[in-house]
Amino acid sequence: MENPVSQPAPVVVAIDGPAASGKSSVARALARRLGYGYVNSGALYRSATWFVLEGGLDARAAALAAAHAFQPTAGAEPDPSLFEARINAHVSAVSSVPEVRALLTDRLRAVADTLPGVVMEGRDIGSAVFPQTPYKFYIDASLEVRAQRRGGQTGAGSDDLQARDRTDSTRRTSPLIIAEDAHVIDSSRLTIDGVVGEVIGRLKLKGLVVE
Ligand code: DC
Repeated sequence: MENPVSQPAPVVVAIDGPAASGKSSVARALARRLGYGYVNSGALYRSATWFVLEGGLDARAAALAAAHAFQPTAGAEPDPSLFEARINAHVSAVSSVPEVRALLTDRLRAVADTLPGVVMEGRDIGSAVFPQTPYKFYIDASLEVRAQRRGGQTGAGSDDLQARDRTDSTRRTSPLIIAEDAHVIDSSRLTIDGVVGEVIGRLKLKGLVVE
């Protein structure tokens, strides 16, 4: 048997944090700045929820369908329909099903494997999907600022941020936590560029070559 060609592991920058903390804007801008791929893992969980509500599938089948349909491209915006109120209201429950998490975690790892570098945002990227990456960030903001940010998002339906955070932080499988080795940034008073600048500074300190 031939030796398998060993592929270098992708560089993964993990951006986690609570709902509407500004993760997506930061992750997208950071990916552009680094020339990496951008993956919004929340979009994958939202898509699974869409398949439950719209397609009438059970959670496992919905996760399989979402994983199959997921085609992230650099900088792509998730479909606005994934931010409707009914998705916001059910996504945390669907995301707390262990089988859903296992399937979608596999898909996220497989997607990263196709890229030389990736900025991936979510809830458990640094703690569970890529615990081995040295580049972990937890982006927070006050509830007031997060509510304002969600309110300013075009097409976003009503969204009970506190309820989602509670469910996401207390589920048994890979809850939202601050990974031990994550760098925490409170973005309440920072611009997107300000947060990206802080992240880049930290990445350089950790030895990542940033052109
Ligand atoms: O990032 P977002 O708010 O669009 O994510 C929507 C939901 O998806 C979030 O409330 C919980 C779930 N999610 C998750 O459980 N794990 C992730 N890595 C990303 C999102």
